[in-house]
Amino acid sequence: MPSFIQYSLILSLFSSLANALACSSISNIEVPGAHVLSITGVEQTNVSVAASVFSPPLSGLKICDVTLILTHPGANDTVTVQVWLPISGWNGRFQATGGGGFSVGYGPPGLGPAVAAGYSAVSSDGGNFGAGFALLPDALVDGHVNQGLLVNYAYRSVHDMTVVGKAVTQQYYGEPAKYSYFTGCSNGGREGIVSAMRYPGDFDGILASSPAVNEPKVGISIQWPYVVMQNEKNAPSQCVFQAFINASIALCDGLDGVEDGIISNLEDCHFDPFTLVGKRVACDGSTSIIDYATAYVVSKIYGGPVAPNGARVWNGLNTGTGFNGYWGGMIDVNTTNGITVAAPESLSENYITYLLEKDPAYDTSTITYAEFTALFYQGAVEYEPTIGSNNPDLSEFHMSGGKLLSWHGLADNLVPSNSTLKYRQSVEAILGGTDAVDEFYRLFFAPGVNHCGAGYGPVPINGLEQLVEWVEKGVAPDTLEAQFVDVEGNVVNHDICKYPLVSKYIGGNPKVAGSYVCADSF
Ligand SMILES: *[C@@H]1O[C@H](CO)[C@@H](O)[C@H](O)[C@H]1NC(C)=O
Ligand SMILES: *[C@@H]1O[C@H](CO)[C@@H](O)[C@H](O)[C@H]1NC(C)=O
Ligand SMILES: *[C@@H]1O[C@H](CO)[C@@H](O)[C@H](O)[C@H]1NC(C)=O
Ligand SMILES: *[C@@H]1O[C@H](CO)[C@@H](O)[C@H](O)[C@H]1NC(C)=O
Ligand SMILES: *[C@@H]1O[C@H](CO)[C@@H](O)[C@H](O)[C@H]1NC(C)=O
Repeated sequence: MPSFIQYSLILSLFSSLANALACSSISNIEVPGAHVLSITGVEQTNVSVAASVFSPPLSGLKICDVTLILTHPGANDTVTVQVWLPISGWNGRFQATGGGGFSVGYGPPGLGPAVAAGYSAVSSDGGNFGAGFALLPDALVDGHVNQGLLVNYAYRSVHDMTVVGKAVTQQYYGEPAKYSYFTGCSNGGREGIVSAMRYPGDFDGILASSPAVNEPKVGISIQWPYVVMQNEKNAPSQCVFQAFINASIALCDGLDGVEDGIISNLEDCHFDPFTLVGKRVACDGSTSIIDYATAYVVSKIYGGPVAPNGARVWNGLNTGTGFNGYWGGMIDVNTTNGITVAAPESLSENYITYLLEKDPAYDTSTITYAEFTALFYQGAVEYEPTIGSNNPDLSEFHMSGGKLLSWHGLADNLVPSNSTLKYRQSVEAILGGTDAVDEFYRLFFAPGVNHCGAGYGPVPINGLEQLVEWVEKGVAPDTLEAQFVDVEGNVVNHDICKYPLVSKYIGGNPKVAGSYVCADSF
């Protein structure tokens, strides 16, 4: 005789199976505010996904691959939503995956790692406002920004795809996902935070890495180095820039009590680029002397955008941040004559030409300091309500039990970490301060880490797993597990402390996590 428990297990198994649908039978998905045009489900038993920043190459994935096409009446958009569901080994969880730059989602590079880890997962193209860092032709209609696609990009598509992903998951497995998560970096991080603001019931847990909150301000500030180099008619070579970075690291590395090549204590770090004037550097096959004009360019770039009257407009780069753009912006070498030239940053270039000037052919190479300031404020007025994503009121997300885990590299050369700091401070200001906010929103600053990873410091490696522990078991993370390969090629584990704490060296082997504690100051 089966016991009562075994009997109910068998019963619930049968009822699940009875409710589950074959992949090809998924249908009748309702998305409020949209018309679903088609749904197609196909079982695929050998899916490969190329290597990406998210994971090594994946192969042999066995999934139910559902493609749903929808449109919003009046918006003239065609949005493709893709849901991948593991045919076996589903972990009972759902994961919505975000995009980056001007893309709402990455498709397979985001979906692949999620299904490989057992999640059902969703991604959306948002109707193709943009892809990667580029805006696509439909972003403008007759010289105006396509408002339907802008709203999709700003917040609507992540919500829609979440409605779709949850419903498809429920139909395919015959039961709803027990927990829902969102993961994303950069624009994806912004999407996560925007979901918490606007759709507080969508996710139990949100992992928002290097979030591009304040996007209109960030979007144009990334062009500041180009504007400076063009106006000063001086583009230092990569090697010369590196000489300044090396000098700043040499000056500030030890301020946290340990010489590990990483600047952790930015507060006490006061690097003055002009101290390098007259110094010799071995660069580009010869030795040269750093002149005042070069130090001026470096100091102006690091300082961040200022108006012609000298007023600070927005954050600069943290000391120690590299100029060798993770994304390749800022400077380029002219392959014809070997000379370094200033290079526009492509995300910002697209933001200025399409969204501010509404003219993809607009020439950004002649923007003056005054014009830059005017464009900065134009963008703030025009786009704060949609893509600004800086409403600090996360109270409904908190009340619904949601958890937001966020980290930002202190050497991020795309989205300055202070953008996230400002957002966090605005949340603390209205929701009861650091400890109260920590109940549902924890932030970690990663020294030496660039945008979404890389750089020269320990990068978080288990953010989603730590978020799951927090959501499902109430184990709130005080540190984020992080790892990097140091200059000698050693793998170093060095956990990152929860804001506002810092990682303080207490003696012992500096390459061992146990030699550090989280403290109020260094
Ligand atoms: C699965 O795909 C990979 C790569 O495309 C291929 O090498 C392999 O033979 C395929 N396996 C099966 C069972 O079809
Ligand atoms: C709708 O979008 C298509 C391109 O996606 C475009 O060709 C067409 O002109 C648009 N119609 C309207 C009314 O905007
Ligand atoms: C900067 O430091 C790195 C690492 O020590 C070194 O390889 C590089 O040559 C230095 N660059 C300059 C311009 O001094
Ligand atoms: C970032 O914010 C901190 C605290 O407000 C400030 O001290 C620092 O100067 C800012 N850094 C940059 C690069 O703007
Ligand atoms: C690169 O150098 C060539 C030859 O001097 C010049 O004609 C060209 O305009 C340069 N390109 C840029 C982008 O400056």
